Amino acid sequence: MCYYAVTMMILAIETSCDETAAAVVRDGTIIISNIIASSAAMHEKTGGIIPEMAAREQIRCILPVIEEALQQKTYNKQHRTKTIKKKMLSVLCSMLYDIDAIAVTVGPGLIGSLLVGVETAKTIAYVSQKPVIPVNHVIAHIYANFLREQKTENRKQIEFSAVALVVSGGHTELFLMKDERKLQWLGGTLDDASGEAFDKTARLLGLGFPGGPAIAAAAAKIRNPIRQPADEIRIRLPRPMIGSDDLNFSFSGLKTAVLREVSKLKASNQLNCETIKQISYEIQEAITDVLVAKTIKAAKKYNVKSILLGGGVAANLRLREKFNLQLTTNNLQLICPPPILCTDNAAYIASYAYFHNNPVPWKNIQAQPDISVEVTPT
Ligand code: KG4
Ligand code: ZN
Repeated sequence: MCYYAVTMMILAIETSCDETAAAVVRDGTIIISNIIASSAAMHEKTGGIIPEMAAREQIRCILPVIEEALQQKTYNKQHRTKTIKKKMLSVLCSMLYDIDAIAVTVGPGLIGSLLVGVETAKTIAYVSQKPVIPVNHVIAHIYANFLREQKTENRKQIEFSAVALVVSGGHTELFLMKDERKLQWLGGTLDDASGEAFDKTARLLGLGFPGGPAIAAAAAKIRNPIRQPADEIRIRLPRPMIGSDDLNFSFSGLKTAVLREVSKLKASNQLNCETIKQISYEIQEAITDVLVAKTIKAAKKYNVKSILLGGGVAANLRLREKFNLQLTTNNLQLICPPPILCTDNAAYIASYAYFHNNPVPWKNIQAQPDISVEVTPT
């Protein structure tokens, strides 16, 4: 039985954090276009996101980004180069002729940033009379696993049921998925998210923003981490809640542990390239050990066939490597999106909207910065 429209083209808008993104996706799976403007370089200078600056940049980028997403679909390159950054909203709406619905992230996220996407989507929906579908950004991360490029033929078939781990800058959550639509929240972080632990450690070590890729790069420089010369400092960090009975996480203690190590090293004048590499290696090991252990625990408890990953931290290669080591013993398949689809983009927003096709009148759409991710089965 098919629950979904036969062919449905969705324009999606995503502005929950520092990215301004728009995408056109067919039938929830085929990416027609996927445009992302990031203000990460701007935030690198400050070592973190300044919400007002992010929102101001998003106001500047939103219309050109949507326009480019719509133009890539038509492959009208001349048109694009001439008109980018100049198109009026009303003209932009006239480009929506074969778009069936508009999807937009309503939360969780930064209020100023969310408002840019939400108000733009509402205006487009009003002018074009298209339905608008509100999307929970965190849960939508899972749907990056259902996407493929227009010309890519093969995609690994996902076997359900599955456990999905969403690891982003603000969230670390586990879900049970009976199929593409049936979701149940299993557990999440009690304090900091795993991405936050990467970002905060990177800031303490002066490695820049976003922290995850910077920590991963520094950790990769350790050649033989197990056999360190005896006189070298071996830094060990805790694996918080790794053995707890529940499916929750806690990462704030790791930040404190890193702070303690950094202070000790500074006091003994030993904070240098080598010790920074060691801390980076160890924090990546600690975070990935916990994420893998808890996800496998959930997979065993619910006797699932697959593990799905999503969110920026899912781009981490060490995390994927550790999951892969667990697959045969536990008879599981691992599905993870390509790194570009793990971090924030609008393509998975469109995919989620396709599988949860619940349009609401544009007047009722509101930014919800604290929207819950704790879905229960319907
Ligand atoms: O999903 P995402 O792009 O944005 C949010 O919704 O928050 O996730 C961003 C997070 C940041 O904390 C960033 O440091 C982390 O994902 N991240 C990584 C990697 N790439 C991005 N963490 C570890 N390893 C990576 N390669
Ligand atoms: Zn995200």
